[in-house]
Amino acid sequence: MPVDTPDLVIDARGLRKSFGRFEALRGLDLRVRRGEVHGFLGPNGAGKSTTIRVLLGLLRTNAGEVRILGGNPWRDVVELHRRLAYVPGDVALWPSMTGGEMIDLLGSIRGGLDEGRRADLVRRFELDTTKRGRQYSKGNRQKVAIVAALASEVELLILDEPTSGLDPLMENVFQEVIEEAKSRDTTVLLSSHILAEVETLADRLSIIRDGVIVATGTLSDLRGRTRTSVRAELETIPSEDRLGELHEVDIDGQWISATVDSDRIGAAMEVLTSCGLRSLTVEPPSLESLFLRLYGSEDSKSGKK
Ligand SMILES: Nc1ncnc2c1ncn2[C@@H]1O[C@H](COP(=O)(O)OP(=O)(O)O)[C@@H](O)[C@H]1O
Ligand SMILES: [Mg+2]
Repeated sequence: MPVDTPDLVIDARGLRKSFGRFEALRGLDLRVRRGEVHGFLGPNGAGKSTTIRVLLGLLRTNAGEVRILGGNPWRDVVELHRRLAYVPGDVALWPSMTGGEMIDLLGSIRGGLDEGRRADLVRRFELDTTKRGRQYSKGNRQKVAIVAALASEVELLILDEPTSGLDPLMENVFQEVIEEAKSRDTTVLLSSHILAEVETLADRLSIIRDGVIVATGTLSDLRGRTRTSVRAELETIPSEDRLGELHEVDIDGQWISATVDSDRIGAAMEVLTSCGLRSLTVEPPSLESLFLRLYGSEDSKSGKK
């Protein structure tokens, strides 16, 4: 039984979801604390939208427990949808309703709209609210849903790749308005397949791959788990059996490049200096490299049927 933890706005444990014989979620855990922006990051097809649809009570799981804002997404659906706003990655609008009417409708389903904020958002996103649903481009449909969500008086924003189709300038506006939501103590779950989109905003991140969370923590927690890149020119290339501290080794003539676990740098340097070090460059660990490793690594696939 999940324990009620008041500062967890989202508490999902052991989620499993199959579509036919394909298991899209394979025991997924996701915890989002009150007031944080939580980046939900993973490649296309990893299971982000499936997880989000479960959180919203739009999809039933085969196993697992979910509590969201202290409630059950199936049982408490009406009450919960007053307290949260959702932006999907592919917003659909009513063809004959204007963007403005759509924003008001969405706002009325939720806790109501802050009119001042609505006007401010419409201006900053340069949204023409008089057009009808069928006339909007993909990017403008996203804007309608983003404005409606951010102008709503809600405790939780669930944003599933919300900026798909927005141009880069609007991406900046989006980053600003999420910062403002955070300063109002709104909790945000923000999914993306692009690290850069969540890196500046997220207090904590969960990285999903093949239906399970492969890493979760603050940016600095995750950075601490990345490897340092080294590139050195040596007088003699060390023999294979001395390369134990080095990963992803690439040897080209007298040059060696490799990655080193952050806590093994000293040991790796001993090996390199004993080989007659002529030059050395060291690059600090980056989140990008961790992310690529988690995305691309073969070992995380081994659990898959
Ligand atoms: N309704 C569905 N029927 C069959 N397969 C689905 C369905 N929804 C999602 N999937 C599959 O589940 C996996 C995860 O999809 P999704 O949650 O949309 O990933 P993401 O949002 O991370 O890109 C994908 O392989 C997708 O094809
Ligand atoms: Mg998706």
